[in-house]
Amino acid sequence: MADWLARAAEGRARAGIVRATDVRRNPQSRPGLLDLASNDYLGLADDPRVREAAVAAVGRFGTGARASRVVTGTTAGHAELEAELARLTGQPACLAFSSGYTANVGLLTALGDPDTLFVSDAHAHASLVDGARLARSPVAICPHADLAALERLLRERTQPRAVVVVESLYSVLGDAADLDRIAALCAEHDALLVVDEAHGVGVAGHGRGAVHAAGLAGAEHVVLTATLSKALGAQGGAVLGPPALRAHLVDTARTFLFDTALAPAAAAAAAQACRIVRREPERVAALHGVARAIAGAAGVEHAPGAVQSLPVGAPEAAVDAAARLFDDGVVVGCFRPPSVPDGVSRLRLVARATLDPDRAADAAHHAAALAAASTAALAGAPG
Ligand SMILES: Cc1ncc(COP(=O)(O)O)c(C=O)c1O
Repeated sequence: MADWLARAAEGRARAGIVRATDVRRNPQSRPGLLDLASNDYLGLADDPRVREAAVAAVGRFGTGARASRVVTGTTAGHAELEAELARLTGQPACLAFSSGYTANVGLLTALGDPDTLFVSDAHAHASLVDGARLARSPVAICPHADLAALERLLRERTQPRAVVVVESLYSVLGDAADLDRIAALCAEHDALLVVDEAHGVGVAGHGRGAVHAAGLAGAEHVVLTATLSKALGAQGGAVLGPPALRAHLVDTARTFLFDTALAPAAAAAAAQACRIVRREPERVAALHGVARAIAGAAGVEHAPGAVQSLPVGAPEAAVDAAARLFDDGVVVGCFRPPSVPDGVSRLRLVARATLDPDRAADAAHHAAALAAASTAALAGAPG
């Protein structure tokens, strides 16, 4: 075992993909550190109303849910959360899960069978990939955002059913799916469309998500998944769609059935965050202002969500640039294979509604300069 682990570690070191769980990178452990890495897009994880909702839920329900939702784990707080998420996104029904990851895996495994073709975008998140793999369905990977390929895969399929899997705003590159045309293709070819709105809820469509913005909320053939751990500032996940789908998931989604219910504090925090997103669209507008400032200063094309992606190329150059940036007081995400769908390592500069746009822009400009310097240094190094 020890030898095997050592060999695996050497392989990762050679590939430049060693990672760390370093508490010093947490902004709370270093006052003044500028956080351009967190997914708390609207700054709600720190909002006093969200914190108070979580604390009140601990007082009312305790710290843990104690059991699965289908045993004794369902509280009034879970029902309230599901109603708030449905109201925010304009969907008829909602089922909360303990994470976005388990929501995706639970949904896809519950939808799959050998007669159902999954057509998954090549940039889909790991949780969607894993869900499709576990679903015992045939899977076709569609080249990223290639609608002609998607149409061909749907038209030429031999299976009676098909499920198309996309993200509304992609997590690493930050680009948006063309939901209008994808949903139209799905309708034409009698396919179900699953849209992962992990980065869309609270961000796209004045915070109500990209599915809502595309006029697809409540469409029979469109289902969305969400995480509560990004713009909603809490923890957990959800599937939203027709009531019959919710009932199907309660009976069959293994990551729902065989998992302890979402912690009551997380449910209450996310429910409160949903109310704030609905009532304060100016927060979402502020987020987009900061995102534009970051993209402009980094010299990258402005992506429609919070995530602005700065391509670096080699993983070593990305790691080096991120480390130097950290020394200079800015923490950014450093994405390397296998977390980058196109194999290009990048710094991921994330906007937040509560950041000062000028300070964020200065940091983004500095990030771009360090990325260029690290790339040049690596190119000049003896091979
Ligand atoms: C696109 C996408 N889907 C799902 C998830 C999983 O969400 P969670 O962190 O709530 O498990 C993430 C985030 O990590 C994500 O980026």
